[in-house]
Amino acid sequence: MKVFRIVGGQALHGSVPISGAKNAALPIFAACLLTDQPCTITNVPDLSDIRFMAEILEHLGAEVTRLDANSWRICARELKCVAPYELVRQMRASICLLGPLVGRMRKARVSFPGGCVIGPRPIDLHIKGLRKLGCQVEIEGGFIVVDASELRGSPVFLGGRNGSTVTGTANMIMAAVLAPGVTVIENAAAEPEVSDLCEMLVRMGARIQGGGSHSIRIEGVSSLSGTTHSIIPDRIEAGTFLLAAAMTGGDIQLNGIIPSHNSALLDRLEAAGARPDVGVDSIRLCTDPGKLRPVDIITMPYPGFPTDLQAQMCSLMTVVDGISIITERIYPNRFMHVPELQRMGADISIEGSSAIIKGTSSLSGAPVMASDLRASAALVIAALAARGETWIQRVYHIDRGYERIDEKLRMLSVTIERLPDSEMPASIKEIA
Ligand code: EPU
Repeated sequence: MKVFRIVGGQALHGSVPISGAKNAALPIFAACLLTDQPCTITNVPDLSDIRFMAEILEHLGAEVTRLDANSWRICARELKCVAPYELVRQMRASICLLGPLVGRMRKARVSFPGGCVIGPRPIDLHIKGLRKLGCQVEIEGGFIVVDASELRGSPVFLGGRNGSTVTGTANMIMAAVLAPGVTVIENAAAEPEVSDLCEMLVRMGARIQGGGSHSIRIEGVSSLSGTTHSIIPDRIEAGTFLLAAAMTGGDIQLNGIIPSHNSALLDRLEAAGARPDVGVDSIRLCTDPGKLRPVDIITMPYPGFPTDLQAQMCSLMTVVDGISIITERIYPNRFMHVPELQRMGADISIEGSSAIIKGTSSLSGAPVMASDLRASAALVIAALAARGETWIQRVYHIDRGYERIDEKLRMLSVTIERLPDSEMPASIKEIA
C-alpha cells in the first residue's frame, strides 16, 4: 500500500488544472446504458472509482473502450440487468445503475450497497420514487429487485429527512426518460452534477425541463441515441485546492472552472476575510491565514455549503484564531477526520452533528490514517500547513476522487511523495 509523506509549512504557488467531476461522471457513465448506440464521454477524471464503474458496465454487457486518459467510449448494444454484490459493494455510486436498467430493460436486480464510513446512507427515496413510477420493488437476498413492466410517468416527491437526494434524483431521471407519460420530480436535487446529467440526456433525445432546479419535468420518449459529452469541472476538487491555499497562505489560480458552482465556499472564504478574485472561468486566491477570522458553516444541499468540503473546511478552521462551529446536516456522523486532526494538535470537540473548533496557531505533523475520500483530503491540507512531517496512510481513499493529487500539488511547488508503506520509518509505523 502507498503512503504520502508531506513536508509541512509550505505555501501553494502557481496554477493547477481541475479535472472533470467524479460525481457527474459516475451517473453519466450509467446513463450510457440507456441507448444501444455509442456514447463518447470526455473530460473524465482518471480515478479508481471511474475505472471501477467501467468494469461494472462491462460486466453488464457494454463495450467499454478507454480512448485516452480522460475519454471513454461506451456502447451498450447488449445489456444484462444483474449487478452483483461483489461489484456493487465496492462503490456506493453503483446504485445509480438502477435507473438506466429500469428505463431500458424494464427490470433490474442490483445488490444493496454495503455500509459506508460516512454514516447511514439509506436508499428508501430511490425505492419510493421507482414505486411511484409504477415499478414493483422487492428486497430479496440482499438485492433490490425491480419489475418495471408497468413503468409510466408520474409526479414524484423526493424529499427526505436530510433534504433532496443526488443519486436518487439521477435514478428517477434515468428511469423516467424512457417511461411513457410525464414525470415531475419535486424536491429534486439541484446539484450541478444532476444538471450535467440532464444536459447529456437531452442531447441523447430526452425531453427534460428544469434540470438544476428543484422541480424537473420529464416527458418520456421511446428511445435515446448516442452522443458525445464533456464532464463539468469538479467543484469539490477546486474547493479543496482553494482551502489548501487559504490554509497554507499561498497564491493559486484555478482555470477552466465554473466559479458559480463554488458560491457557498467563496461566500464563507470572504466571510473569513479572504479575497478571492473570481473571473469568468477562473479563481485566484492569495491569503494570509494569520489574518483570517473563524466562520460558522452548515452543510446543505446545493447551492448550500457542500458536505464534500466540510472536512477540508474543518482543517482550515483549526489554524484560524477563535472558535468556529461546523454543523453537518447531510451526514451527521461525517467527522472521521476529527481524531486524525486531533493527532496533529487540533482542538476540536464534537457535539451532536457539530464540530466546535478552537483555532490554534499551527498544527504539527504526525502519522495519520486516511479513512474516506474527503477526510483524506482534509488531512493532506492540514499536513501542508503543519510544522514538520506528516505520513498519511491508506492513500487509496484519496485516489478514488482526486486525480493525481500529489502531482498537482507538486505543480504548486509543494513537497509531497507517494511511497510504499515499507518506507515509513519504523518508529512511525509503531505509533500509527
Ligand atoms: N438519503 C435518504 N434516503 C435516500 C437517499 C438519501 O435519506 O434514499 C439521505 C442521505 O442519508 C443523506 C442525504 O439524503 O443524508 C443526501 O444523500 P444523497 O442521496 O444526496 O447522497 P448520494 O447521492 O448517495 C452524492 C455524492 C456524495 C455526496 C452526496 C451529498 C455521488 C456519487 N456521491 O451521494 O459524494 O456527499 O451526494 O452531496 O454523487 C463524495 O464524493 O465524497 C461523496 C460522498
